[in-house]
Amino acid sequence: MKFIITAGPTREHIDPVRFLSNPSTGKMGFAVAAEAARRGHETVLVAGPVNLRTPSGVRRIDVVSARDMLAAVKNEVIDGAVFVGVAAVADFRPKVSFDKKQKKSVMTGELKLVRNPDILKSLKSVPITRVGFAAETNDVLAEASRKCREKNLKFIVANDVLAKGSGFGVSTNRVTFVYPDGSLKKFPLMSKRRVAERILDEIDRA
Ligand code: PMT
Repeated sequence: MKFIITAGPTREHIDPVRFLSNPSTGKMGFAVAAEAARRGHETVLVAGPVNLRTPSGVRRIDVVSARDMLAAVKNEVIDGAVFVGVAAVADFRPKVSFDKKQKKSVMTGELKLVRNPDILKSLKSVPITRVGFAAETNDVLAEASRKCREKNLKFIVANDVLAKGSGFGVSTNRVTFVYPDGSLKKFPLMSKRRVAERILDEIDRA
């Protein structure tokens, strides 16, 4: 099977030296890509700006912004593929961005934002298997369940990004798989590698 996995943050530049982003390091997404390749799947990893080595057997495409990530994903998607959206895609970008550094003296301190495209949602009616992640700080399972239905996913991997040992940056995660019918599969704190194995088990079972 062909797997397309997104990982890491996106950066939405205001000018060449300033951007909006988030704390994703790519660890979770790279673990999923490593596991897919280890199981013999053709694996494409679309990665935002991160400092990680490409796992063996994985073809990596580096991108910066959400719009770059969407274009790279659309270029790789084929019928029957599996898409796993692990990236922390910035939901907004500056309405205007500049190709030269803006002088403090001309900046007003106000930033107008516009919505970025939703990569997972844009694949809603493509004949592929879609798996998402939900990075939440409150009402974790209810929010994950809503996103799972809205984005037409096989399941969504919910993680509480404020819980100890979970979410951004760390090498472990505590996740719950949430299904479209509202059923749940809860896991204890595990390494991101083990989380990736459970995700691949779930996809391979189908
Ligand atoms: O990279 P690490 O440091 O290891 O951290 C891992 C992680 C916390 C980033 C990861 O476990 C995680 O939770 N990833 C999802 C982050 C996120 O953006 O969640 P969300 O709830 O905002 O988005 C829901 C889903 O829609 C995600 O699959 C996301 O990739 C996707 N999305 C979101 C916005 C957007 N514009 N396009 C999307 O495709």
